[in-house]
Amino acid sequence: MQNTIKALYTKRAVLYHRLFIDVFNFKGRFEKFFRETNYLHSQIKVLDAGCGTGAISRILHRVATQKGLSGITYHAFDFTPAMLDEFKRWMLKENIHDIDLKQADLLDPKPLASDWREYDLIVFFGVLEYIPKEQLEQTLRYLSSLLNKNGVLIISVTRRNLFTTIFIGWWWKARTFREQEIRGACQNTGLVIIRGSGLGIIYNPLILELKKII
Ligand SMILES: C[S@@+](CC[C@H](N)C(=O)[O-])C[C@H]1O[C@@H](n2cnc3c(N)ncnc32)[C@H](O)[C@@H]1O
Repeated sequence: MQNTIKALYTKRAVLYHRLFIDVFNFKGRFEKFFRETNYLHSQIKVLDAGCGTGAISRILHRVATQKGLSGITYHAFDFTPAMLDEFKRWMLKENIHDIDLKQADLLDPKPLASDWREYDLIVFFGVLEYIPKEQLEQTLRYLSSLLNKNGVLIISVTRRNLFTTIFIGWWWKARTFREQEIRGACQNTGLVIIRGSGLGIIYNPLILELKKII
């Protein structure tokens, strides 16, 4: 299964970015989300887990720069080299050198280096769809373990409806979620939901802002 997903995103790296980020305007909608919430501060440590072409990191970087924030450590990883290549192309074009990218598989027993932890903010957008159902809670628990005491995990998952079942489920080989399933999984793994919201479009992913119980 992992190889099928990697092959899919290798073939469709550019299409993914054009379609979801540009045409569906996730760029504009997620940017609005990060401007209106207040998770970015100077000197924080941020992880983009399953970063793909870097859509969310790009937004975080742009918002932080425009707000005049400094000293932010940016880490990002994905297991598809073609997606990371698109991300690197953008970094080169924009002359950005302060995002540390790695190829890593979230489902490996120890996917990340020992200094990739103690994050203030972890963003995990559109990746749970590719995590096998039986590893859902384990994955959330792992990400939660990478947060520092007051860190926040923000996840975005595809809600199940007729459109997403066909478009995301079939064409993009992704799982879709009932809201209760994902809320339950977060609670079972010791994560507290600070807020849940959506983007208000037909696709309407569910965005959950989470903290761990301490
Ligand atoms: C829908 S894209 C989302 C990309 C990015 N987070 C965004 O919001 O644009 C899903 C990404 O998850 C990555 N992915 C899927 N399973 C993964 C795993 N086990 N470890 C790391 N990356 C994974 C894929 O390579 C792909 O880039």
